[in-house]
Amino acid sequence: MTDHVIVEQSAAHPGVQIIRFNRPEKKNAITRAMYSKMAEALVAADGDAAIRVTAFLGTEGCFSAGNDLGDFLAVAMGGGMPREIVDFLYALVRSEKPVVSGVDGLAIGIGTTMHFHCDLTIASVRSQFRTPFVDLALVPEAASSLIAPRIMGSQRAFALLVSGEAFSGEEARDAGLVWKICAPEDVETATLSAAARLVGKPPEALRIARDLIRGDREEIIARIDEEVRHFSARLHSAEARAAFEAFMRR
Ligand code: COA
Repeated sequence: MTDHVIVEQSAAHPGVQIIRFNRPEKKNAITRAMYSKMAEALVAADGDAAIRVTAFLGTEGCFSAGNDLGDFLAVAMGGGMPREIVDFLYALVRSEKPVVSGVDGLAIGIGTTMHFHCDLTIASVRSQFRTPFVDLALVPEAASSLIAPRIMGSQRAFALLVSGEAFSGEEARDAGLVWKICAPEDVETATLSAAARLVGKPPEALRIARDLIRGDREEIIARIDEEVRHFSARLHSAEARAAFEAFMRR
């Protein structure tokens, strides 16, 4: 089991499970093993009455640089679409308990799109959200192609998901991807405090209210599947392979 993701129960905030990216030397780029561990933690939380909320956190100055591009290159060289990514997305979308996230600094690729599935995201003012999918000859994932235009409008969704423009923490908040922004040193406290306040709510009412707001999950799953079909084909394209090789060669 990888230690590039740390899963722990918060000592200061009982009922809060923390999933922390812990691969700072690689900007918290996410490997297949890391996706697996995160998916397992989300599924386990649903079956564990002691866990009421999950909080995603990164390391100082970096939430995540997105999918490990070495793993993508391996797929481009002949592997199949990593099942671990899809399992993680399913677990995130189907999570029965609130998910909050705290971002300080870089949030790239799935490090951006996963927040579409978080109930509350707090980001530092120095955060940068960016999805270079098309530059890597890929397409948007995590049902971002469905959810982003709905919450931020088609122009901002295009700028984020297709043009690959970077959104600051403030821009991400104005676009509805993020709830609040704060100083870098306050991100963790604010995120865990928000999680702890949810722990204090009546769980049944919280679950129903959350379900009403999140809407039809099967529509989201269907879009993930549709994106995965394109994404998988793109991973095997010559232009994607060239983009991954160029990154690995830098
Ligand atoms: N996959 C694999 N390794 C990654 C990575 C990724 N997505 N992002 C960063 N790394 C690695 C770098 O290769 C480098 O490793 P090294 O020290 O062994 O050479 C290390 O993390 C530090 O990255 P570096 O590029 O030196 O830091 P930086 O501050 O100059 O730039 C980023 C940081 C995140 C802007 C840059 O690394 C980057 O663009 N990464 C790719 C992001 C991406 O395209 N993600 C996929 C989205 S679908």
